[in-house]
Amino acid sequence: MEQSDIFTKEYLERQERTKWFTDSRFGLFIHWGLYAIPARGEWLRSTEKLSIEEYDPFFQEFNPVHYNPREWARVAKAAGMKYAVMTAKHHDGFCLFDSRFTDYKATNTPAGRDLIREYVDAFRAEGLAVGFYYSLLDWHHKDFPKYSDRGHPMRGNEAYREDSFDFARYVDYMRNQVTELLTNYGPIDVIWFDFSYDEMTGEVWGASELVRTVRALQPDVIIDNRLGGDIKARHPEVYAGDFASPEQIIPPEGILNEDGLPLPWEACITLNNHWGYNAMDRDYKSPKQVIRALIECVSKGGNMLLNVGPDAKGEIPEESIRVLNDVGKWLRRNAASVYNCGRSELLKPQWGRYTERENKLYAHIYDRGIGHINLQGLTGKIKRARLLADGSEIKIRTLREYPEDAFIVMNGSQLPDDWDTVIELELEQ
Ligand code: GLC
Repeated sequence: MEQSDIFTKEYLERQERTKWFTDSRFGLFIHWGLYAIPARGEWLRSTEKLSIEEYDPFFQEFNPVHYNPREWARVAKAAGMKYAVMTAKHHDGFCLFDSRFTDYKATNTPAGRDLIREYVDAFRAEGLAVGFYYSLLDWHHKDFPKYSDRGHPMRGNEAYREDSFDFARYVDYMRNQVTELLTNYGPIDVIWFDFSYDEMTGEVWGASELVRTVRALQPDVIIDNRLGGDIKARHPEVYAGDFASPEQIIPPEGILNEDGLPLPWEACITLNNHWGYNAMDRDYKSPKQVIRALIECVSKGGNMLLNVGPDAKGEIPEESIRVLNDVGKWLRRNAASVYNCGRSELLKPQWGRYTERENKLYAHIYDRGIGHINLQGLTGKIKRARLLADGSEIKIRTLREYPEDAFIVMNGSQLPDDWDTVIELELEQ
């Protein structure tokens, strides 16, 4: 087989389509809906087996008086994020957008308006790319399986054993809603389907037709890989997606396809331990953890989609905002080592990680150690070195005992930035 055979048409098209995305590296995930009121996460209707009636008070009450997506967009932008993905519909079936195909939508709550439109306008105005999360599951739709479905709130409920439903109608409903989302809101950059399980995967969702519809409406939109199929195949299904979507994990070796070529991927990560607002969960990650996680993603050729769960009033939790602000301050000084950067062929260094872009190698130093910092195999290859945060000169030296290696001469016994000290190494061409 020729080496060039592995660069299939599908592979090259996907690379082209996802270019802006892999350059962007950092996005905001927003999980928001009726579940912000009970404030126990977005799965509560399922975990607590609530009926539609028991969940209905939240629909009657939903009135996010502080919803100000311009503010959210400013927070995202200040955090250094380049795009956002927001729940247009989550598993509970509630739509934040004004759909012709259901009454179960924000326009029929006290909110009384299309909250997705405001999100799209606000994020676009800040120059961010815009995405929609759309749940394949739907616990409100009468044609979605109930008794036998493993996640449905009415699973195993005798009252639903004989319930009859027409799943084909549900598949039409999804296609109609996705058509609305990709018709009524201008150009959309990401459509994020969630999720397939057991036999509920691929063509069961009408996936080929759904994706054909998506591509016909918006040829440039990129799609995650949760409709099913095998994104790693040399010739993946049309619905296998443009990027992989590891959840709450950063893949140890990044993600390659079956031919060993890198695939676009995005790790989605919560800031505390829930997607939807959870009032009790104060277990937030620190800015240092977030920055290092982002760098880990980039060093392995991936993105990070970091989640916030705004509350019932429409406020992003204060703690989340604080972390995002700090991450943004660090990113402003160190942007060149993140955006448009990717994996390096060099082995992971003992003191941290490398990211790379063209002839610039970025050393992300986490562990100061003692003495000079070793750059394995880089002797004679470094044209100059600068502390990325302030542009100041960093001296590089060699040591006779280690002829292959270069060494960073660090002044002082502590790193200037305890979260991540980045040294920009300009390599000889
Ligand atoms: C899981 C959860 C869902 C969440 C998603 C984010 O699929 O079911 O609630 O939206 O992860 O990736």
